[in-house]
Formats: sequence, structure tokens, C-alpha cells
Amino acid sequence: MDDTPSRIPAALPALRAQAEAAGFIMSSEDRTGALLAALAAARPSGRILELGTGAGEGTTWLLSGMDHGSRLTSVELDPAVQTFAREQLGADPRVTFVSGDGGTWLRDFDGPPFDLVFADTWPGKFTDLDRALALVAPGGTYLIDDLFPQPGWPEGHGASVGRLLAELDEREDFRCVRLAWASGLLMAVRTS
Ligand SMILES: C[S@@+](CC[C@H](N)C(=O)[O-])C[C@H]1O[C@@H](n2cnc3c(N)ncnc32)[C@H](O)[C@@H]1O
Repeated sequence: MDDTPSRIPAALPALRAQAEAAGFIMSSEDRTGALLAALAAARPSGRILELGTGAGEGTTWLLSGMDHGSRLTSVELDPAVQTFAREQLGADPRVTFVSGDGGTWLRDFDGPPFDLVFADTWPGKFTDLDRALALVAPGGTYLIDDLFPQPGWPEGHGASVGRLLAELDEREDFRCVRLAWASGLLMAVRTS
């Protein structure tokens, strides 16, 4: 079986070209994107959170799976890189882009929980994990990727990934599945 996605979002080639021109190498790969789209499609009128917009490649995959009633909030620390996403996707009324630190946003947010949280940066994954998990609705999904070694990992990051996986596995309020596929993913679903 070839697992290369056959349907890609319309904005993806332009976003990828802008990311490559800017030397941004942290975008999600297409297999992860296809999973994001499928998880978003599973949540009609869903509330979706992306931590770490990057250049917007994950954002456009999420939007491609969302129905008209779904809403996506995407948070990014670096306004320069998020500009690509704002330019290509900002006219879509389903998405709200936030420029700022994801940890601050997580701690300040006091709205309703999310049906899908794609935690694709440090806050919500290696810091503020409890806060991100608290924002997952019952039956909702928390997804992380880049669990296989990636270019640019800081020294000792492998041990941090090991601790994160162990902590998630120990959570009694989530059911976890590890996906040794694409960049290495973990999906956790809130049970209570
Ligand atoms: C792996 S990339 C995101 C890729 C994107 N989600 C995708 O699917 O293509 C991680 C992003 O997190 C951003 N970032 C780093 N520290 C952050 C922080 N404290 N708060 C929010 N975003 C942060 C980086 O600038 C980078 O754009």
C-alpha cells in the first residue's frame, strides 16, 4: 500500500513554497496532514486548536477536513512565519490566528474545551501539558507528532520525548495510541 495522500488542500503548494523559500523546515508532512484532516472531519461543528501554526501547512490540512460549522484557533509565537498562513488562509472565517506565546495563551484561555487539539510546539507538549489536556473535551482528541528524532532537536531532547510519552501513557483520563508512522505520532482520547 502506498500511503501518500492523493487529495491535498488547494493552498498547500503555495504554503509549502513560501515555507521552503523562508527556510522553514518544521511543517507537518502530508501523511500527518491527511490524519489531521480526517480527525477534523470526524468532528462536525467541532472546536479545534492548533498550537504552533508554523507556515500554515497543518492549518490548511485541518481546514480541508472541517465542515462549515467547525472553528479552528491557531497560535504561533513567530509572526513572520505565521504571515504565510494569514495571507493564504486568513479569509476563511472558520480560522482565528493568534500571534503570541502558546503557554501564555493556554494559561489565559477561559473558553469551552476543544474536540481536537494538535499540540505542535513546546507549550501544550513539553510545557503546560496539563493545561492543554484540560482543554480536551470528553471524547476529544489530543495529537502530537515529531516523536521520532528530527533535524534540529536540542541536546537531550530524546529523553524529554521519552518522559512525555510515559506521562501520557500514565494518564487514567486518556486512552493513548502510539503511531510509529510519519514523523512518529501519539493520539490520546479523553475518556472522562
Ligand atoms: C513544528 S512547527 C509547527 C508546524 C505546523 N503546525 C504544521 O503542521 O505545519 C512549530 C512552530 O511552533 C512555533 N513556536 C515555538 N515556540 C512557540 C511558543 N512558545 N508558542 C507558540 N508557538 C511557538 C515555532 O515558531 C514553529 O512555527
